Amino acid sequence: MLEIAPSVLAAHPLFVDRDVSRMLNAGAKILHLDIMDGHFVPNISFGPAMVAALRERYPNLPLDVHLMLSDPGKYLDVFIKAGASEITIHSEIAIDVSLLLKQIRQAGLRAGLSLKPGTPAQALFPYLEAIDLVLVMSVEPGFGGQKLMEGTLTKIRELREQGFDGVISVDGGVNADNARMVQSYGATRLVMGTAAFKSDNPSQLFESLQQ
Ligand code: DX5
Ligand code: ZN
Repeated sequence: MLEIAPSVLAAHPLFVDRDVSRMLNAGAKILHLDIMDGHFVPNISFGPAMVAALRERYPNLPLDVHLMLSDPGKYLDVFIKAGASEITIHSEIAIDVSLLLKQIRQAGLRAGLSLKPGTPAQALFPYLEAIDLVLVMSVEPGFGGQKLMEGTLTKIRELREQGFDGVISVDGGVNADNARMVQSYGATRLVMGTAAFKSDNPSQLFESLQQ
């Protein structure tokens, strides 16, 4: 079953609950939260308070938290306490990710690793046993509304060939026109920001992606 994870980055900052509930009413079963520090990526989004507010409002909703932070270790506990269901960190950070992945799993959450477009799939090969999910960035991280870079999708096949059978999520520029192509590479989750939140008929969009 393909998962669609609306990215809250694309919600109107003054009407997040209005926009999020529209996604959930349209059938979304998980939310993607892009946390940006203005250092790992050239943008600042929102923090643990957003995660905590969504957790309080939707106690059972899976919250897929994507940490685009240079030092995610400093904030892991904060996001775990805020109510994240899954935490994805970037393979490109300067410290050893395996300790952080262990910490995420020990807290009972699913652990994920993300690859920027310029990072090869091989960077994840040593960690495949330590993760439940891979997040393939199909745009340079930092901003919504960009064009999907198809060349990034071959990493999905490489990861499957390595025997990784967990969630492979694609994040960036995913829309109704390219979703089937993305899925054909072996993706099982589509992160959708602009295409979902700006859609006139998100339930029709989500339904069409399941066919
Ligand atoms: C980039 C962000 C975006 C966002 C999705 O760092 O992670 O990829 O989630 O945005 P759209 O779907 O608008 O490209
Ligand atoms: Zn993301």
